Amino acid sequence: MEVIIRPDATAAVELVAQLIQNRIASCPASVLGLATGRTMEQVYASLLRREVSFEHCTSFNLDEYIGLAPDDPQSYRHYMQQHFFSHSDFWSDNTHVPEGDAEDLQQAAKDYEELIRNAGGIDLQLLGIGEAGHIGFNEPLSAIMSRTRDKCLTPTTRRQNAAMFGGDPEQVPKRALTMGVGTILEAREIILLATGEAKAAIIAQAVEGPITSMVSASALQLHPHCKVVVDHASASQLQ
Ligand code: F6R
Repeated sequence: MEVIIRPDATAAVELVAQLIQNRIASCPASVLGLATGRTMEQVYASLLRREVSFEHCTSFNLDEYIGLAPDDPQSYRHYMQQHFFSHSDFWSDNTHVPEGDAEDLQQAAKDYEELIRNAGGIDLQLLGIGEAGHIGFNEPLSAIMSRTRDKCLTPTTRRQNAAMFGGDPEQVPKRALTMGVGTILEAREIILLATGEAKAAIIAQAVEGPITSMVSASALQLHPHCKVVVDHASASQLQ
């Protein structure tokens, strides 16, 4: 795990965007693993400003709320369209988000894993981190070998994501379909981005604490090509 500390959030975001741009310049047909959330909005905005071409890329998003249709304004598919896909030259057939409104969620999870495999696996996985250490929606007690599956969201996560649901945690769906920790660890390269003081304690646990299923992001310590990009505020509790 390589930890890269930048002075502020803008510098951290720009570095991540630059790393993605470099990756696509050297391999235009990259398979990207993508995340949503407030932190990622700035990364997508930067990639769009840089006019990076995604024409030959394929993408797989980490997660989707269960019960939300793709055109629901609160779904992660909608987030991706709004913040990124519809402003880029990504072919829409090449973008994938787990099917949160599938009738058979177990089958949808299996199919998602197969789609990733058939695309040749993920070259570069982009990650944010939740305040309880989740990557994707791998909440505490997610097994290191876990695969794409249906996961219950913790009260912390529902509170953290309430802003998108009129500020009411009760309106946040209780479950999500998420890639597993094992799925994420199979990516050839991983970049985790965290900014702001609210992430400082969990970054210290994920980077310097024991590898434990209580902090899913700690499993990234096992990955041979994982960069953790943080600003000073998020790095403030590192030893
Ligand atoms: C969402 C996802 C989550 C977020 C995390 C941080 O697709 O994968 O793990 O990255 O919850 O969210 P923000 O950036 O809103 O703090």
